[in-house]
Parts: sequence; structure tokens; C-alpha cells
Amino acid sequence: MHDLVQEYYGKQLTRTEDLRTSACCDASAIPEWLKLLLSNIHEEVLVRYYGCGLVCPAELKGARILDLGCGTGRDVYALSQLVGPEGEVVGVDMTDEQLAIAKQYQPYHAEQFGFDNVRFIKGYIEKLAELDLALGSFDVIVSNCVINLSPDKSAVMQGIYDLLKPGGEFYFSDVYSDRRVPDVVKFDPVLYGECLGGALYWKDFERLAHQTGFADPRLVEDRPLDITDTALLPRIGNIQFFSATYRLFKLDQLETACEDYGQAVIYKGTIANHPNHFMLDKHHFIETGKVYPVCGNTWKMLSDTRFAAHFEFIGDFSRHYGIFEGCGTALPFETATEAGATPCC
Ligand SMILES: C[S@@+](CC[C@H](N)C(=O)[O-])C[C@H]1O[C@@H](n2cnc3c(N)ncnc32)[C@H](O)[C@@H]1O
Repeated sequence: MHDLVQEYYGKQLTRTEDLRTSACCDASAIPEWLKLLLSNIHEEVLVRYYGCGLVCPAELKGARILDLGCGTGRDVYALSQLVGPEGEVVGVDMTDEQLAIAKQYQPYHAEQFGFDNVRFIKGYIEKLAELDLALGSFDVIVSNCVINLSPDKSAVMQGIYDLLKPGGEFYFSDVYSDRRVPDVVKFDPVLYGECLGGALYWKDFERLAHQTGFADPRLVEDRPLDITDTALLPRIGNIQFFSATYRLFKLDQLETACEDYGQAVIYKGTIANHPNHFMLDKHHFIETGKVYPVCGNTWKMLSDTRFAAHFEFIGDFSRHYGIFEGCGTALPFETATEAGATPCC
């Protein structure tokens, strides 16, 4: 599978438009503050963007970030501006052609930004331990439309867990399916290269996250994927595919369900670019200044991470009130009809 993917991204595709699905994001849905950062990135890097979501979480100044399957480096160069000269962004990819372009424009971006805080490494995301990266040394690990392409997702997840600092997070966009993908779809070379064949059934992804130690994966945003190439449609049958962004915190004490301890938080409105609200995930839109009831897990995701200084915390874990209402088990993504005009990012 590695050879097939290297051939697809290194030789067959030369620009975003070559893709045969709507996996890539609609530029109109990108927030203004991010558009500004993207406008500083070289066109040659931008035209080879093959991601499926936005992987720029809030509060990154000074952070150390790892981008898995960085391609030509669009996200690395966007994140580079967000972490600033005190931070660092490391991009890993296995495909020479992708890395060559990423590295070619490193001096250009250093000149544009006024600092050089990025590094690109050739390697396999299943073998992160071989890359000479210190364990527990990253604040945030991101990835954009890559994990589905890996034949050993369990090894990838374990490597990520090991490289994150305690309280760090894996924030990533990828492709998911509403059911397990049969072999006839999985081993179709075009469907695999297009990020559909290797897509994880969403419930299996949750299981894998739990097994790795990420007890409470949080869905940030999602959208149904259109298969724009009619030749591919009959091969897929009734499987529905989604692009989704999840955030997974490395916090030992998280519980497998949202438990109610009568706690609440107040957002101070102090995170850059987020003065009016902070969105932890799709179900937690926290308005500035408002007392916002939370479960024990959400409390820890805010109090034991880089977000702590931006919140006031009310309560403790001394009394348990049962399960926190609204913990769902149905398909978490919005289908095409439900999604309507919802922006993808
Ligand atoms: C769909 S592209 C996404 C690229 C980039 N994240 C972006 O948003 O433009 C997938 C990238 O992941 C890389 N990749 C896929 N599987 C990989 C693996 N097992 N190890 C390292 N890189 C991998 C490919 O070489 C390719 O550059």
C-alpha cells in the first residue's frame, strides 16, 4: 500500500483539482484569520494541497507541533505562523516528490515570516519511533487526510500517543465511513489513493482511540463527501463517506463516558482570534463570560491543557450526579440532507 500511495501522491497527482472526490475543503469556509496566513504561502505549495479539513486548533503560540503526512507543507507553513519564532513545526512524509517541494520553499517562507521554525523529515508514520523525535515532546500533533492511507493505523496511533506531552492533543482531519469498507473497495487502487478505501468505520476509530489511551475522542466538525467521479460511484455502493475532524487529548484520567460532577467553566475570551466564544468541539460552543456546565472530561480538557489560563473553573470532583446528559451513540456525522449549507471548516 505504501508504494501505491507514493506513486499516487508523488507522480499521478500534480494539483488539488486532480482529485476525484470532494475531500478537499471549500476555500470559502476558511475563517478570515486563516485566509490571511494562507495568503503568505507559496502558490506551488498551495496547489498541491490534498487535505480534507482544517488542522489549526486555537492557542498555539510557542507550541511544538508535528504534522503527519505533511505533503508539500501547506499546514506546516500555516502552523509555523501560528506558533511563531518560539515554537517549532516538524513535518513528516514518506513521498520524496512531496517533501522536495516542501523543502524547496523553506527559504521563501523564512523570508516571508521573518523566522524559520520548520523542519521536514522523510519517514513512515507507522514508524515514528525511528525518527529520532523525543518521546513526550510535542504539544500538538496534526494530520490532514493521511491516517486513512496507512495500512497499520494502530501503530500510527501508538506512535502519536507516545510523542505527545501529557495534556497534549492529536487534532486531525480524515475520512470515515458509516460502515466497515469491504475488501473490494479497500483494495481498489484509485479508491485507496482517493482516501476512501482505507477510511475507518467511525465506531472502529473510536475503539482504536480508546485502545491507544485516548479515552474520549471529540468530534470537532464533519461533512459528507461527494464522489464527483461517476466511474467511482458503482464501486462504492451504499457506503457513505465523511470528512471529519477529531481532537484527542492525552489525559490519563479521562473517563470513557461524560460524568456529571456539577462542574462549570467560564471562558474569559482571551484566546487569540476567539474573542466571543471558544469551540472545544461540535457540542461545546462556550460563549465568553457565560457560566457553562460541563462534564468531568470537558473540565479536564480545559483545566489540564494549554487552555487552562483562559477559563475560570467552578466546582470539583467531590460529588457525582450520574451520567452527563447528551452522550450519544448514533452516527455522529451529519448526512448530506442534514448538513445542508453547513460550511465544512
Ligand atoms: C492526501 S495527502 C495529504 C497531504 C497533506 N496533509 C495536505 O494536506 O496536503 C497524503 C500524504 O500523506 C503521505 N503519506 C501517506 N501514507 C503515509 C505513511 N504511511 N507515512 C508517511 N507519509 C504518508 C503521502 O505521501 C501524502 O503526501
